[in-house]
Amino acid sequence: MSKSFTPAPWPRKLRSQHWYGGNSRDTIYHRGWLKNQGYPHDIFDGRPVIGILNTWSDLTPCNGHLRDLAEKVKAGVWEAGGFPVEVPVFSASENTYRPTAMMYRNLAAMAVEEAMRGQPIDGAVLMVGCDKTTPSLLMGAASTDIPSIVVTGGPMLNGWFRGERIGSGTHLWKFSEAVKAGEMTQEEFLEAEAAMSRSSGTCNTMGTASTMASMAEALGMALSGNAAIPAVDSRRRVMAQLTGRRIVQMVKDDLKPSDILTREAFENAIRTNGAIGGSTNAVIHLLALAGRVGVDLTLDDWDRLGRDVPTIVNLMPSGQYLMEEFFYAGGLPVVLKRLGEAGLLHQEALTVSGRSVWDEVKDVRNWNEEVILPAEHPLTDQGGIAVLRGNLAPDGAVLKPSAASPHLMRHRGRAVVFEDIDDYKARINDEALDIDETCVMVLKMCGPRGYPGMAEVGNMGLPPKVLRKGITDMVRISDARMSGTAYGTVVLHVSPEAARGGPLAIVRNGDMIELDVPNRRLHLDVPQEEIERRLAVWQSPAPHPQGGYAQLFHEHVGGADTGADFDFLRGCRGREVGKDSH
Ligand code: FES
Repeated sequence: MSKSFTPAPWPRKLRSQHWYGGNSRDTIYHRGWLKNQGYPHDIFDGRPVIGILNTWSDLTPCNGHLRDLAEKVKAGVWEAGGFPVEVPVFSASENTYRPTAMMYRNLAAMAVEEAMRGQPIDGAVLMVGCDKTTPSLLMGAASTDIPSIVVTGGPMLNGWFRGERIGSGTHLWKFSEAVKAGEMTQEEFLEAEAAMSRSSGTCNTMGTASTMASMAEALGMALSGNAAIPAVDSRRRVMAQLTGRRIVQMVKDDLKPSDILTREAFENAIRTNGAIGGSTNAVIHLLALAGRVGVDLTLDDWDRLGRDVPTIVNLMPSGQYLMEEFFYAGGLPVVLKRLGEAGLLHQEALTVSGRSVWDEVKDVRNWNEEVILPAEHPLTDQGGIAVLRGNLAPDGAVLKPSAASPHLMRHRGRAVVFEDIDDYKARINDEALDIDETCVMVLKMCGPRGYPGMAEVGNMGLPPKVLRKGITDMVRISDARMSGTAYGTVVLHVSPEAARGGPLAIVRNGDMIELDVPNRRLHLDVPQEEIERRLAVWQSPAPHPQGGYAQLFHEHVGGADTGADFDFLRGCRGREVGKDSH
């Protein structure tokens, strides 16, 4: 047990006993009805009730195997003397939800929080995988502070097409650009589609799902080694069973999210994100999660802490390999050990195992130095996330240097402006569009409030006439997000967003824009008086939704620079049991 944590005394009365303990009419109502599932009376003797919060859904294919995996979690819970109950929770599927799954992350988090607090759950196993499922369940659990542990579904096996690895998402963008450039036929694209997703599991690149699985492990919220085990590897099932065993002891010890999610844990996660070349989406999700536990994390922490972290994980989209090879090389524990050796890890940070992160990783080995690179030959010296500021992004914007082109890191170009995503789609393939590779593509109205939901459209595809010249990258700027599987010199999350009247809203075709990543600057080269004149007459084209979740979202979602959480959901509301209605 880490020095920083003192376990609660055991035995003691758990919160589930408010439902199941004693012989009152209310207890018999709660307990008696559950007995219709065939549970013997002694199951209700005060042992920990473990909610297995499952994001399985037929429409969340990345999590499609989680019902099967939940059986292993249950086995672990029974073995350790707990009582497992599987509870379906909101599953924010990345590849299904429109306008974007991100619009539902907060709704899912709110549903999870209430499902935990309102029901007889002493501890929770968060069964997640697809991008938004991980942060939404972590956020919900953090706001109840009920003992919780993450087990992810694991990544898919490698995609292979014509002798080459093909990565989820990454090759979708590549192939679609190749079709536009006339280098690939539509038939070949369809053939590649069939080769892309070979097994159950999440995207096999270091996209957002793999990044968030790594973040959960680096934060200490998952057992060591969880992030990289492929979905179909038998060791994934073992991990699920061990997770089920572990949560029972966590409940007995009362080892809570707030004991684990400390400032040190977030700093470890930020540095880990730099080392793995992780997704820019982690910025938003970790800022939101920190807001739930009262850790004062800012965008500037991302820049400061990640700046000197070399990216050593050679995975797509920044590198060559996929999650399967990352697992065979030793996975995230090797990366954490490397950070620890470089003095970039808070070694005493507590994990769900009850041990420190350093105790978990100090004895691991790297089994493949082409996948987890030696310190002397990183993918890039400056991993992490660059946070840019300037008159175009007073509250900040982000760029992922490891996915960008070195020759564009300092660039001045003429703006070609798309007023929203429909405008972009309508004009990008027009041969008459006045654009060349020196221009800066600007996309507006794609932030949290503008899209709405902040879709992953920031890595706008290039115009065909530029692609045909063999050009594969241009500077692109928006208030959108970008898929973690994507790449390019793409400035994202510009804040304040256009829909809130940020300066992005008043950029016009022909304005000159300067990007200077080394100096963290994003500048609109237009006189300040002119900017103010344009802002004074600007009116938001975003409609104010009337009714339903869309209205709630519009009125309460925060900016990307603070995690895009709802203002009323920040903070921890605890696990207090409400009044009984019976
Ligand atoms: Fe679900 Fe990538 S779309 S993990």
